[in-house]
Amino acid sequence: MSGGTGRFSLDAFRHEALSEVGSTNSECLARARAGDSGLLWITAGRQIAGRGRRGRAWTSEPGNLYASLLLINPAEPQRVASLPLAVAVAVHAAVRAVLPPGGEPLEVKWPNDILIGRRKTCGILLEGEGLPDGRRAVVVGIGINIRHMPDNAPYGVTRLADHGAGVSPEELFAHLYKEMAIVLDAWDEGRGTAEISRRWRDVACGIGEKITVNLSDRSLVGTFAGIDDRGFLMLDTGERAPMPIAAGDVFFERTE
Ligand code: BTN
Repeated sequence: MSGGTGRFSLDAFRHEALSEVGSTNSECLARARAGDSGLLWITAGRQIAGRGRRGRAWTSEPGNLYASLLLINPAEPQRVASLPLAVAVAVHAAVRAVLPPGGEPLEVKWPNDILIGRRKTCGILLEGEGLPDGRRAVVVGIGINIRHMPDNAPYGVTRLADHGAGVSPEELFAHLYKEMAIVLDAWDEGRGTAEISRRWRDVACGIGEKITVNLSDRSLVGTFAGIDDRGFLMLDTGERAPMPIAAGDVFFERTE
């Protein structure tokens, strides 16, 4: 399967490699404000103000991969909810390509953390911004632990080097560049959500398990019943129908 011939064909993307930047996500947003047309990858050898989810810092020493992809008007607003799942499928495939076979399971935790042996090896941060000219910028930021991992994370962490992947950030990025084009082509501006959801379920962990979901204002406990067609997590709390959840942090019962 190729990256397709449409909007997300392989040769439609551009790549700029920086040695050091504050945050590749911030750099992409600045390019969008300056009029960039999107499908621009920015990578950096090191970030000095890398951002994680929920306002956390993302430690960004040389040796790991720091990459952001700028998308402009990626989909109609009602179709964009499945983009994080599509990104997870692409990143999972890129990491799969550099890991030797037979190791601990490589899985996706809802919506888009990449885990090896249930420990996080990659974080993904999507940020959106309405531009003054009416366009919408969406930045997909991806940090993959290759040689380093934080020592103070509030969850289990790991790095590719501990799983036999002696890969450089550049080599891993080459896989990511290709896999993202393939998956975005299948995602098809959100029209391919059913196919993306199917691929996501194939690599997901924890479906059927008891989980805690931390929302911004409270925690919910229940059984992870899967995802719906929009990519929302379905939490079975034992009351009526499973509850759809659009955003939250998932914790598994035994491993975290
Ligand atoms: C998370 O907290 O799980 C998301 C981490 C996202 C980190 C990446 S590194 C490249 C891009 N630039 C940033 O400042 N953050 C993202």
